[in-house]
Amino acid sequence: MSAVESATSERAEALRALLTRAQHEYYVLDRPALSDQEYDQLFRELQAIENAYPALRTDDSPTQRVGAPIQSGFPSHRHLVRMMSLDNAFDQAELEAWEQSIERVVGAAVHESGYTVELKIDGAAVALTYRDGLLVTAATRGDGTEGEDVTRNVRTIRGVPLRLMGSGHPPLMEIRGEVYLPFAGFERMNEARVAAGEPVYVNPRNAAAGSMRQLDPAITAQRPLRFFGYAAVLPDGSVPASSQWALLETLGAWGVPVAPHRARCRTIAEVATWANTVEHETRAALGFAIDGGVVKVNDVALQDELGVRNDRTPRWAVARKFAPDMAVTRLARIDVNVGRTGVLTPFAVLEPVEVGGATVTFASLHNADQIAAKDLREGDWVQVVRAGDVIPYVLGPVPERRDGHERPWHMPAACPRCDAPVVRDGEDVASYCTNVACPGRQLEGLVHFASKDAMDIDGLSYARIQQLLAAGYVRDAADLFAVTVEQLVGLERFGRKSAENLVAAIAAAKQQPLSRLLFGLGIRHVGAQAAQLLARQYGSLDAMMAASAAQLGEVRGVGHIIADSVASYFADPNVVALLNKLRAHGLRLDEPNAIQADGPLTGATVVLTGTLPTLSRGEATALVEKAGGRVTSSVSRKTTFVVAGDEAGSKLDKARELGVEVIDEAELRRRTSAASTDRHAADDLT
Ligand code: IVH
Repeated sequence: MSAVESATSERAEALRALLTRAQHEYYVLDRPALSDQEYDQLFRELQAIENAYPALRTDDSPTQRVGAPIQSGFPSHRHLVRMMSLDNAFDQAELEAWEQSIERVVGAAVHESGYTVELKIDGAAVALTYRDGLLVTAATRGDGTEGEDVTRNVRTIRGVPLRLMGSGHPPLMEIRGEVYLPFAGFERMNEARVAAGEPVYVNPRNAAAGSMRQLDPAITAQRPLRFFGYAAVLPDGSVPASSQWALLETLGAWGVPVAPHRARCRTIAEVATWANTVEHETRAALGFAIDGGVVKVNDVALQDELGVRNDRTPRWAVARKFAPDMAVTRLARIDVNVGRTGVLTPFAVLEPVEVGGATVTFASLHNADQIAAKDLREGDWVQVVRAGDVIPYVLGPVPERRDGHERPWHMPAACPRCDAPVVRDGEDVASYCTNVACPGRQLEGLVHFASKDAMDIDGLSYARIQQLLAAGYVRDAADLFAVTVEQLVGLERFGRKSAENLVAAIAAAKQQPLSRLLFGLGIRHVGAQAAQLLARQYGSLDAMMAASAAQLGEVRGVGHIIADSVASYFADPNVVALLNKLRAHGLRLDEPNAIQADGPLTGATVVLTGTLPTLSRGEATALVEKAGGRVTSSVSRKTTFVVAGDEAGSKLDKARELGVEVIDEAELRRRTSAASTDRHAADDLT
C-alpha cells in the first residue's frame, strides 16, 4: 500500500466513525452535533473516497445505509413498496447535470412532460396504509424497507385523514408524506419543556420525529404536529395517477393536506427560478421548516422508464437543497443589552456562520433561565437557527464538543451600561437595571416615547433621536421639549424647514392626553391599555401619583403586578424629577375622558340590553363610564341595574329572575346627569 493509499484509508476510517456517530446522534438521539452542511460535506468526502477506491468501501459504511435504524418499542412494519430517498442537487449546475442525465435516457420526452416542483418539508417521513380509504397503519420510514408501526401516534395528528374523502380509493394503497411541526408549535413546546425542567428539542424536525415515536400516544396528541402528503403507491409499485401534478390534486381531493407553493415547470430554467424565489422569499414566511425543493419528472410513464438507481434513489426526482437554516458555530461570549424598560436581555456573540443564506454574528438567547436550562457556556459550540423570518437564535450547545475551557454564564449583578444594581423580581424571568436614567435605556426609551401609540411625534425617527443623543441636546424625554430650531439646523440632514416641522411636532405633543404620556414613559408592564385604564380612572397625574399600590391595583383591568410597578416607578426621585421637568414644559398631565371619581354612578355595575331609542351601545357605555359606573356583559346579583331597549332578550329575563332593577334610556339619562342636579340641590341647601 502506498503512503497516499494508507493515508486515504485512515481518512476513510475516521470519516466512517464520525458519520456513524453523527447518524446515531441524529436518528437515535434526535440530537445532531453536526450541522447538515458539515454532515453533507463529510458524507460526500467519504463517498468520493469510496468511489475512487472501491476496496475501501465496507459493508457497515454510513454510505451503505439510507435512513434510520429501527427503534425498539414499536412493532416493525414492512412497507408495501420500498421507500426511496432523493439525490441532492446543491446548485443550479448540479440541477442542469441532473437534467442531462435524464435526457441521456429518455431524450426530449422530458421536455414534453415537464416537472412538478414541491417544497421539501423538513420533518419525518411516514407511510400511511389505506384499505378502501380507511387508515389502517402508519409507519416511520426506518431503513426504507421496514419502519416502525406508529399507527396509534399518527392517528392523533390533525390533518391525517382517518378515512379518505371523495371516491375512487384503491383497495390497498400507501400514502407517503412528511410529519412536521410548525415553528410556532415548536417554540411553544420548548417553552413548556423549559418550564417543566425538561431538555429542549434542538429543532422542529427532531421534535417531530421524537413526538412520533413517543410510547404514549397521549403525549403525541399534545404535540402540534401536522402532515403533508406528496406520494402514493399501490402494491405493484404503480401510482394512482398519470402525473405527479395529478397525483397531488387527487390527494387534495381525498382530503390529504398537500404543501402549498407547488408548481409545474416546463424547463430546468423555470425550476431554478422557482427554487430561488422559494429559498429567498417564500421560505421566510412559511411558518414551517423546509430544507429545499423537490423536482419530479411530471409524467408517471416517463418516471417508470427512468427507473431507480441501486434500489435507493429514483432517477426521475432530485432534491434541490437550500442553505441550511441551522448551523453549528462557536459561542464567543454572551453580552447583555438594555431595553427601554431596563430589561436586560442576554444575546450571543458568535463566530460568524452562514445560516439560511445569511451570515449570523448575533443571536437571541431570550433570558437567563433559558441559558441555564440549556446549560449554555461561553466558548461552547452551539446550534444556531434562523426559523422563518424571526431573528436567529441559539438552540443549544453541543456538549460533546466541549474541551473544558467553556465558562458558565450568570446575569451580571451590575448593569453593563451604568453599573447600577440589577434586580430580578420573583415572578419574572427577566432582570432589570434599576437606574431609570441608564444610558442603555435612553435611545430605546425615547424611540418608544415618540412612537405612534405613545406621544406620536411626527418626524422624530430612530435616526434623529440618535443624532440628538449624540449631540448632547437630549438626555431624557423632557429635554425633547427644549430642543430649538437653531440646534437642529446645525445637525446633519436637517434643513430649516424640517427643523421647524420637528420642533412644531414636539410642541404639539404637549397636548397629548395623560394615557399616552403614561404609556410613553415606558413603565415596566404598563402597555397602552393599562395606561388608558389608569389615566381614565384617576384623571390626572397628581391623583395617580397620590394613589398607593393597593389602590392602583383596584382599578379594573389593572393587576397587582402593574400596580406595584407603577407605584415603585413614581416612588423613584429620578422619576419625580423627570415628571417635574415635563410639567415645567407645559405638558398636559390629565385625561379628557376621565371617569368621575365621585360621579353619580361611581361603584355601579350596569348591563345594557336590546336597542335603545337614541343611544348606540358605545354612547350608552361612555355615558355610564363618564358617570363613574362600569358596563359589564352579563347580569348577576351584583348588577346595579339593567338598561333595556327594544328586543331585549335573555338578559332582561335574567334581571327579572334575580330581581335586578330594570330601567329605560330616559331613566339612564336622568341618572347619569344627576351629578350636576345633585350639586345644585346641595348648593340650594347651603
Ligand atoms: S419524494 C421517490 N417529496 O425528503 C421520492 N420527499 O430523501 C421520495 N421529503 O425522506 C421522496 N418533502 O421524507 C418527496 N415533497 C417531497 C418531500 C420529500 C420532504 C423528504 C422525504 C424523504 C426525503 C428525501
